[in-house]
Amino acid sequence: MAISSKFGWGLVLTTSLFVACNESNPAVEASDASLPLGQELYALHCASCHGESGDLGLSGAKNLKTCALTISEIKDIIKSGKNGMPSFRGVIGTESNIDSVANYVSTLHE
Ligand code: HEC
Repeated sequence: MAISSKFGWGLVLTTSLFVACNESNPAVEASDASLPLGQELYALHCASCHGESGDLGLSGAKNLKTCALTISEIKDIIKSGKNGMPSFRGVIGTESNIDSVANYVSTLHE
């Protein structure tokens, strides 16, 4: 009895930790200063379609894990958008922010 109820609580705790880690809460991501800028901007603006790891594929978003584009091609898509993907030029702001996101995207490639 005692053992099984301990196990039960452990399961609940583990499950809620798992959910917390996978929750994409942009407000929390953005205020987490330990995240590199590119990753922070990605979590904020890109993960909603592409997912944290790049392969979510919502709204027809391409899999960034298999994306073979160069950094400058990635930057072009971020700035101009493509089909179902809107332009992020005015959203992400400076050229160096766009550089950071493009560099981060290139690290998602497997
Ligand atoms: C509204 C959903 C949406 C958001 C948000 C979004 N994308 Fe996309 N993305 C797409 C779609 C849809 C495509 C596929 C475009 C096509 O080729 O038809 C795409 C394609 C791409 C590609 C090209 C991949 C390839 O291999 O051709 C890159 C790179 C990319 N997105 C990066 C980003 C980055 C970086 C952000 C954040 C700044 C972002 N996306 C935000 C929907 C989105």
